[in-house]
Amino acid sequence: MTCPMTNREMTLLGLESSCDDTAAAVVRGVPGNARILSSVVAGQDELHSAFGGVVPEIAARAHTEKLDHCAERALAQAGMDLFGIDAIAVTSGPGLIGGVLAGVMFAKGLSAATGIPILGINHLAGHALTPRLTDGTGFPYLMLLVSGGHCQFLIAHGAEEFERLGGTIDDAPGEAFDKTARLLGLPQPGGPSVEREARSGDPTRFRFPRPLLDRPDCNLSFSGLKTAVLRQRDQIIAEKGGLTRQDRADICAGFQAAVAGVLAAKTKRALTHYLMLAPAVPTLAVAGGVAANTAIRRALEAQSSGHGCAFCAPPLNLCTDNAAMIAYAGLERFAAGQRDTQEISARPRWPLDQSSPAMLGSGKKGAKA
Ligand code: KG4
Ligand code: ZN
Repeated sequence: MTCPMTNREMTLLGLESSCDDTAAAVVRGVPGNARILSSVVAGQDELHSAFGGVVPEIAARAHTEKLDHCAERALAQAGMDLFGIDAIAVTSGPGLIGGVLAGVMFAKGLSAATGIPILGINHLAGHALTPRLTDGTGFPYLMLLVSGGHCQFLIAHGAEEFERLGGTIDDAPGEAFDKTARLLGLPQPGGPSVEREARSGDPTRFRFPRPLLDRPDCNLSFSGLKTAVLRQRDQIIAEKGGLTRQDRADICAGFQAAVAGVLAAKTKRALTHYLMLAPAVPTLAVAGGVAANTAIRRALEAQSSGHGCAFCAPPLNLCTDNAAMIAYAGLERFAAGQRDTQEISARPRWPLDQSSPAMLGSGKKGAKA
């Protein structure tokens, strides 16, 4: 398949700076059949680690310093210069406003200097379209975004048509993993540490709450879970004067089982809703750092196969923030004949599904719609 407008493959430069990763990538192809020529991600963990979370001003300054270097490296790794690029796709929201602005200003400058068309991309659309980049997944598919900043169920009907079935009303699950690790004195990021400890733990010793399961919708809540972990920890300390290695492992295993249980139960509901559309090739896709968790992945995969659905879990480097997904989302829009102008503005809040109610909470890395 080739581009309906130009009848040829397109090459896009993608730029991402909405949170704490500065990223640039080059992607070439057509909708549903594209490949990554290069993908560069420069993280900022060391800049924020002393503060226990992302500091927006520090993030924005680092993006400004790193964007041109990342773009240069992405072009060099793809073996081309800017004149091989058909369009520039830049994250223009949602996210931390300073970082988004840094990316948008940089992209506008490149576009103004070279005349290359520019497209402002919704960061969440980048995540949600990743299964099309990695596996050529056809519409409609069900998507679960689950990370430190996102948690929502979406039906992707088209490259710009998303239906939000539900999402977290407070924290994202990655935040709960990070907080749990902090409460237990385990290293950050919390997800991998908690997963490691949970391996030698008994998931049945502590029964942590599974909120909102009594409600028929696809909304989730994780803030009560971390409070329950805090209470359990303090109770053990009050009784025994401290936590043993086994106590810690059992808390981690119980916590992880609760997150996996809630996600699986709500996925079941979302699948039931999605399958009413009678999709040709029913598919459940996941993205986000939390999807790296083996127990959670297994629980989601089991739901998926139980409903006769294919399960698509992109490689971890494409589940977490990157610019290849932004370039690909740009490619879908560019192929449809769309172009933006120098008037693109940065949008800190930008829900994918404008018709569904906004999320009440926001992730630790900033409001994500
Ligand atoms: O997608 P991501 O890299 O960044 C955003 O939040 O946008 O996700 C990072 C989150 C962190 O909260 C981290 O603790 C969590 O994903 N995470 C995990 C695992 N690996 C990373 N959570 C559970 N299990 C894991 N193995
Ligand atoms: Zn993201």
